[in-house]
Amino acid sequence: MKTSLRALLTGSILISALGGLATHVAAATVEVYKSATCKCCAKWVDHMRAHGFTVNSHDVGNKEARERAGIATKLGSCHTALVDGYAIEGHVPAADIKRLLKERPRAIGLAVPDMPHGSPGMEGARSDPYDVLLINKQGDTAVYNRYRPSDPNESMMRLK
Ligand code: CU
Ligand code: CU
Repeated sequence: MKTSLRALLTGSILISALGGLATHVAAATVEVYKSATCKCCAKWVDHMRAHGFTVNSHDVGNKEARERAGIATKLGSCHTALVDGYAIEGHVPAADIKRLLKERPRAIGLAVPDMPHGSPGMEGARSDPYDVLLINKQGDTAVYNRYRPSDPNESMMRLK
């Protein structure tokens, strides 16, 4: 009687442990291609880790990785990441990547071209508006998300 109760308890502990493991491994591993010296790339990697992603960094520059992924130079930024069959160019917020991995559209991936002030890894005194672009299989883009900083001074300036 005692033994079977213990076996039952051990079993349920094991099941809950496995359950915890399953939710933990749900976040896919991100392979990042970036320059060794780029500070904003490292800060974007921190942002991704803070949002539950496991990140492997390759300090080799991202031009080749971007070309291999089929992302046009005009959409380029300082780092290119590969995650779960998609390519991510630049300072794309983790929330948009999670949405991408959930919705799984037929696409190459997401891009935030250049390096907009205020995007993840590019935080500072200034925050500029920027769009997250979805790159379809043909390489064309559509707006996936818009970020518009609500700085009161900035909106006042826009009203003038
Ligand atoms: Cu950057
Ligand atoms: Cu970067």
